[in-house]
Amino acid sequence: MRFVYAIQQLTLTTKSPPQLSSQPDNIYIRQIIKEKLIVREFIQRLAKEPPFRIVARAILKKLKVSVKTKDIWALSKRPQYMTGLVEASNQAIKQGHKEISVIEFGVAGGNGLLVLQEEAEIVENETGVKIKVYGFDMGARGLPSFIGDYRDHPDAWKQGDYAMDEEKLKSRLTDRTTLILGNVNETVKTFFKTYNPPPIGFVSFDLDLYSSTKDALGIFNAAGMKMLWNTPLYFDDIEFVFNHRFAGVFLAIREFNEENENFKIDHWYGVESGRAFPERYFYKKLYVCHDLISISNVILDRDTISLHIK
Ligand SMILES: C[S@@+](CC[C@H](N)C(=O)[O-])C[C@H]1O[C@@H](n2cnc3c(N)ncnc32)[C@H](O)[C@@H]1O
Repeated sequence: MRFVYAIQQLTLTTKSPPQLSSQPDNIYIRQIIKEKLIVREFIQRLAKEPPFRIVARAILKKLKVSVKTKDIWALSKRPQYMTGLVEASNQAIKQGHKEISVIEFGVAGGNGLLVLQEEAEIVENETGVKIKVYGFDMGARGLPSFIGDYRDHPDAWKQGDYAMDEEKLKSRLTDRTTLILGNVNETVKTFFKTYNPPPIGFVSFDLDLYSSTKDALGIFNAAGMKMLWNTPLYFDDIEFVFNHRFAGVFLAIREFNEENENFKIDHWYGVESGRAFPERYFYKKLYVCHDLISISNVILDRDTISLHIK
């Protein structure tokens, strides 16, 4: 019985603790709730400690849990996508958007896009924020021609790598997902005009090449661009021995920041905090694109906050 109770506590979120009125006759209920919250927090913390967390994760994997629990426990097939989707939906609610777009740059066979499509449905059903999925790729042609020097890492990739079976992938896509075939140096420019998508909420970059990543980042400067104030990004190709700051994805990010006054890309600091497996490497690959002009113009629609002595 106690074991079942502990698992129940794990799957509960502490997002909205019960609200009580300040009437004195609530004092006993208040005390009981406080104690329950302390127990829940203790169990949640304990479960994240090795070796309990391995067992806890295995159990949670078998249960129907909230997307928040899925995210914290890295239960998704691509936990980086779940983290991006959950954060984007939370921001959309706070910023008053009913719908967002999530994008995968570099689709290849479609394994990642299919996970994004699946997870988007789960997150949408739970949060109520509608999610449209877009996948950009060269299609059957695979990697395009390279820029001609070390920056595209010809030591790792070859033109034509990762050719897509277009028909096979299209047969697995639902109405939620749009596959945009062609070179991103063209397709991002007309994306907003052609598809009239809701604001960008999350973007995964897995294009391998410096030149393609630089072109794809151009989406933030495309005509009609809309995005969340702090849009989560995931960069896949940054953990190999051949990666360095003067080529590939790192160079594309640096140049983006140098060339754009109004948008800045930086690490998602603290994304590991509170996670069951904070050492997982994918957290280091999560970044954020900040829309500086929009942020400058925000006037928060809420009461002021006070912190009282406990
Ligand atoms: C490593 S694969 C992507 C793998 C995929 N994300 C997955 O999880 O299975 C890289 C893809 O990026 C695409 N790509 C690279 N440069 C591109 C460009 N300039 N325009 C469109 N697609 C590009 C290639 O066609 C290739 O399919």
